[in-house]
Amino acid sequence: MQCDPIFIIWLALFKLTFILLCRACGSAEYKINEECCPMCSAGHRVYRHCSGDFSTTCVPCVKSTYTAVPNGLTMCLPCSFCDEGSRLRIKQKCHSAADAICEPLPGHYCMEPDGQNCRKAMKHSTCLPGQYINQTGTAFTDTVCNDCAKGTYSNGSFTFCRMHTKCESMGKVTVALGTNSEDSECRERHVKIFTIISFSLFVLLLLGLTLRIFYVKKNKQKQTNGL
Ligand SMILES: *[C@@H]1O[C@H](CO)[C@@H](O)[C@H](O)[C@H]1NC(C)=O
Ligand SMILES: *[C@@H]1O[C@H](CO)[C@@H](O)[C@H](O)[C@H]1NC(C)=O
Repeated sequence: MQCDPIFIIWLALFKLTFILLCRACGSAEYKINEECCPMCSAGHRVYRHCSGDFSTTCVPCVKSTYTAVPNGLTMCLPCSFCDEGSRLRIKQKCHSAADAICEPLPGHYCMEPDGQNCRKAMKHSTCLPGQYINQTGTAFTDTVCNDCAKGTYSNGSFTFCRMHTKCESMGKVTVALGTNSEDSECRERHVKIFTIISFSLFVLLLLGLTLRIFYVKKNKQKQTNGL
């Protein structure tokens, strides 16, 4: 029965399939020394490769190292460092099963994104006088500045350009025309009541002083004449 040729062919095919499968290794295995060893899970690494009847020996990643996926690595990978020089800060701390995730510092945007992570960030641009902020900068995009149209102005920090004040339409006089960064300057057409009062007081004071000087002089003259 065991010498049945069909059985032998079947056995040979089975063995060939097995060898082929083994050469490729399973998805949860890695190849080492012509052998397929079970992988270590994320957060772990290989301490000793499998051999014969012994399975892979795994140990956890320690001291700022990690493995994010099942692996056959004999060393864990070093955690990324969120460098302030690259204008980054930690968004998510590194732990044995995942690398650190860095994000731009506040007021910065990512120049080199890498999935969820950022490798390098840069400060948001500031708009110049004569420009308005069309779009405020985010963690992923820079500030978008656009020039003000004629007859409007912005000092660079407005989110839209304002119309120049029309002094004449407010019953005032234009002192300086508006520019793309500054509003026009107006002056009141009529003299203010405050100005009138101040001026009157000034005149009265001057009159009083003159009278007093005149009076003193006259007195002195009288005394001189008297002597
Ligand atoms: C402002 O930004 C939007 C969107 O980015 C753009 O479509 C628009 O043209 C910008 N405005 C001006 C005046 O450039
Ligand atoms: C622009 O004007 C606003 C208020 O009008 C002021 O708070 C701001 O400091 C000004 N910015 C610059 C850059 O001058």
